[in-house]
Amino acid sequence: MKRILLTGGHGLLGKEIGNLLRRRFDVRITDLQECDVTSLPACRGAIGGFRPQVVIHCAAYTAVDRAEAEPAAAFAVNAEGTRNVALASREIGALVVTFGTDYVFDGTSSRPYREEDPVHPLSVYAKSKLAAEEALRETGCDHLLIRSQWLFGPGGKNFIRTILEKAGRGETLRVASDQTGCPTSTKDLAGAVEKLLEAGARGTVHFSNGGEATWFDLARFALDRSASGAAALLPAATRDLPYPASRPPYSVLSKEKYREITGDSPRPWDVAVAEFLGSLSAERPIP
Ligand SMILES: NC(=O)c1ccc[n+]([C@@H]2O[C@H](COP(=O)([O-])OP(=O)(O)OC[C@H]3O[C@@H](n4cnc5c(N)ncnc54)[C@H](OP(=O)(O)O)[C@@H]3O)[C@@H](O)[C@H]2O)c1
Repeated sequence: MKRILLTGGHGLLGKEIGNLLRRRFDVRITDLQECDVTSLPACRGAIGGFRPQVVIHCAAYTAVDRAEAEPAAAFAVNAEGTRNVALASREIGALVVTFGTDYVFDGTSSRPYREEDPVHPLSVYAKSKLAAEEALRETGCDHLLIRSQWLFGPGGKNFIRTILEKAGRGETLRVASDQTGCPTSTKDLAGAVEKLLEAGARGTVHFSNGGEATWFDLARFALDRSASGAAALLPAATRDLPYPASRPPYSVLSKEKYREITGDSPRPWDVAVAEFLGSLSAERPIP
């Protein structure tokens, strides 16, 4: 049976991938305690000890706004961490699967971003994730980099949960209506990882759900389908919101290459969000 090791296995995406792949593979879940990716010896210990055929590297520094004040921490985890995972994996000949972000683009495109489009990150987080991509390639390890965007799912903190919680507390919500991307289900991304592995994909591949939306559209959709529908929700311009990190105004990812490789078409984001909201209301009443 194929052995797979996960870093960041308790995060939003790592949990979903672990849950899916442990049905078919011998999966070793690690997180900060078992494998701090900023330490090369820790990576060598965890990866060399288990000797997986595939390392799925989900560990990351993901606090986009906090990174503006903590660039060293963001680069240590994202860039150096990825280099360490890649080096330790190369030493045992394991394939590294890891995740990039739509934020490596500056948002000036008028069509969905393709894998080969020029990158121009606008924030510290985005620069640290681009440095992670470069570190991955520089090590020469066998790799698959999946860029994705706007993740939501049951495994942790995400935009939809935050919106519902704030609405439940009666807060007025001001949400950016001038950033367009595509919400992506961690369940669907985990499924895409499995399909790409089966297809033997390598290099860089984009994946998100289908369609496009602004953060405001996503908040409106989530609130309309929950008991919080009447919450005060106002569209806002990014420049009027108190977030320190710059974000691309447009960052929809093209799924053409993913479709060509796997034959699979990602389902529309609203279908995936509706399913997620259904699972939340089964878990507990939405406020
Ligand atoms: N979330 C999104 O919208 C999004 C969009 C595009 C791409 N991505 C990428 O997708 C991947 C997974 O993201 P996610 O949303 O699942 O992130 P997440 O929920 O923040 O999970 C990241 C995990 O990494 C762990 N971690 C942090 N520092 C570590 C270290 N030094 N060593 C080992 N583990 C460490 C975290 O542990 P602690 O919680 O204890 O810190 C957490 O469990 C990342 O590469 C991210 O950049 C995410």
